Amino acid sequence: MPDTYDVIVIGGGPGGYVAAIRAAQLGLRTACVEKRGSLGGTCLNIGCIPSKALLQSSEKYAEAQHALAQHGVKLAGVELDLATLMARKDKVVGENTRGVEFLFKKNKVDWVKGAARLVAAGRVAVTPMNGGEAQELGARSIIIATGSDIVPLPGVEIDEKTVVSSTGALSLPAVPKQLVVVGGGYIGLEMGSVWRRLGSAVTVVEFLDRITPGMDGELSKQLQRVLARQGFAFKLGTKVVAAERGKDGVTLTLEPAAGGAREELVSDVVLVAIGRRPYTEGLGLETVGVAADNKGRIIVDANFATNVPGIYAIGDVIAGPMLAHKASEEGVALVETLAGQKSHVNYGAIPAVIYTWPEVASVGQTEEELKAAGIAYKTGKFPFSANARARANGDTEGFVKILADERSDRVLGVHIIGPDAGTLIAEATLALEYGASAEDIARTCHAHPTLNEAVKEAALAAEGHALHI
Ligand code: FAD
Ligand code: NAI
Repeated sequence: MPDTYDVIVIGGGPGGYVAAIRAAQLGLRTACVEKRGSLGGTCLNIGCIPSKALLQSSEKYAEAQHALAQHGVKLAGVELDLATLMARKDKVVGENTRGVEFLFKKNKVDWVKGAARLVAAGRVAVTPMNGGEAQELGARSIIIATGSDIVPLPGVEIDEKTVVSSTGALSLPAVPKQLVVVGGGYIGLEMGSVWRRLGSAVTVVEFLDRITPGMDGELSKQLQRVLARQGFAFKLGTKVVAAERGKDGVTLTLEPAAGGAREELVSDVVLVAIGRRPYTEGLGLETVGVAADNKGRIIVDANFATNVPGIYAIGDVIAGPMLAHKASEEGVALVETLAGQKSHVNYGAIPAVIYTWPEVASVGQTEEELKAAGIAYKTGKFPFSANARARANGDTEGFVKILADERSDRVLGVHIIGPDAGTLIAEATLALEYGASAEDIARTCHAHPTLNEAVKEAALAAEGHALHI
């Protein structure tokens, strides 16, 4: 292994590992320093991938119990084998993380195993995880891709047994009878869905008066209605003021966010999911003088450069949505720029998906954002209950909503709640990326019968002439 590189990436998550692979493809001598025992970062190890494996398995269990009878498939004695379900999740994680290791070898990226610390512009010291002597490496460009960590809830200590973060919630040894989720965002609703489907009574305690803040309000309302029908209980506008562990589980003291009478809520397990914050512990930002904002996010310019020449940052550790694909896009754009190409990230076309059932997916601006910006827009909506494929599938919950500029017809935002919304949003993202109009989508031939026809119909609705409603 050489000690001088063109690029050293710190962190092997979707930001860092993708940046490293692309840099190597472009002919740059590249190393990626990762201190976890495996590559793939939060996303592959304790985030996107294990959570989706559990969502998939729990959905199959719920289907077997409640949804197959309508198809004439009768099952008796459906049983849950939690150990097998968890083992499958671990296997999926292993396949994905080893896949990245293979890609590193294939592209000749050196994986330097250990914790990196910045010692000077262009120099990092790597301490092996077994505590051996630090090794110093140099590079023309250093990319910080150290990701994020959970936001703790003051006064509520996470032990990953009875009070868990998303990491503990991915590996509970038994199905809790009562699960309280603090935070009605991505993690709370996805992990809450997993355990609800497996049999827990789930209560979501959310500080604001709505779930999924930031999503289009109409989708949030509909999602809450559907989840309530699935058995979720919601305590909105509520904060946790104390938590006490006892032999019967955890007793939370709740108070209305605006103040008022307190109440107690007892549960076997509490999941704290109130957001994530940039992770830069032990990185030595102060040593080299890399500037961060008041939320701990590393400050970068449009080319991901920090205030220290030769040091860049991408992914969860900088501002913007904390999403794997956003981190990867930034990694690619940055190293292409370092290799002399012109590259950029279109932040106006980054999809966001919540993998509940139905899924919720969004790209572009929400109605609330358009109203606040004073932009005149028109709306085209189409329900899945009027889509032939959704009816054939027996999944008719939800709708597609397209927001287009009132005068130019340019698509400004697309919001979908419904079956496979996370897949359907790709078409809308492409539309935004290409600056398409609603009419462009409406005039595009869509295969029949597909769920995608609901996107076409919503576009037709924006033009004032949906066909199937
Ligand atoms: P990370 O993936 O956090 O990777 C950073 C890596 O840097 C880590 O492996 C860490 O060990 C390493 N590191 C840190 N400091 C050092 C150091 N000093 N030296 C060496 N290594 C270091 N996003 C989605 O888009 N879709 C999803 O479905 C999704 N699901 C999620 C589910 C959960 C439960 C969670 C917690 C997150 C989920 N996310 C999802 C968010 C996604 O995981 C993050 O946005 C993404 O991982 C960010 O990538 P990153 O490369 O910036 O950082
Ligand atoms: P989040 O930001 O999505 O949701 C946190 C929720 O907690 C918000 O609704 C917020 O109002 C609420 N909250 C904040 N403080 C609170 C308090 N004291 N009491 C009660 N409620 C409180 O954060 P979450 O769910 O922890 O996920 C972190 C990030 O990870 C997400 O923002 C997302 O970027 C990423 N993620 C993405 C996924 C995906 O793409 N499908 C899945 C899981 C995580």
